[in-house]
Amino acid sequence: MKILVINGPNLNMLGIREPAHYGRETYADLVEKIQAHCDSKGVQVTLFQSNHEGALVDEIQKAYGTMDGIVINPGAYTHTSIAILDAVKSVNIPTVEVHISKVEEREEFRQISYVRLACVKTITGHGTDGYLEAIDYLFKGEQP
Ligand code: DQA
Repeated sequence: MKILVINGPNLNMLGIREPAHYGRETYADLVEKIQAHCDSKGVQVTLFQSNHEGALVDEIQKAYGTMDGIVINPGAYTHTSIAILDAVKSVNIPTVEVHISKVEEREEFRQISYVRLACVKTITGHGTDGYLEAIDYLFKGEQP
């Protein structure tokens, strides 16, 4: 099974940015944690992070016909990007939305998620473990 894990803007600043919301783990720690988890399950994982909306759309499109699942944390683009929603709809790959923080308990503007409309599941507020839960969910869905 092949899974693409996509992180949007400012997630490369993990460990530095707002630790009360996002914790102390760095993006490099997150990459290592996801890689180790996927190795233990025999899942082939590709990790991608960008601060640019178009680059995220390009990466989602590249997944078409090559990936079996997508885990996406679009960062602030969650709340603004119809382009990312349309990209996920276009490729028709089971996609799980992840947020490190509990977005539903934060500002009003974080209550909208466009990408959610194309996702099979949403995980919020479980810290970086949310990514592993998303991978497990997609992995289970693939088992006969
Ligand atoms: C986030 C929540 C978003 O509202 C925010 O803009 C982020 C991170 C999260 O992981 O909790 O960049 O997606």
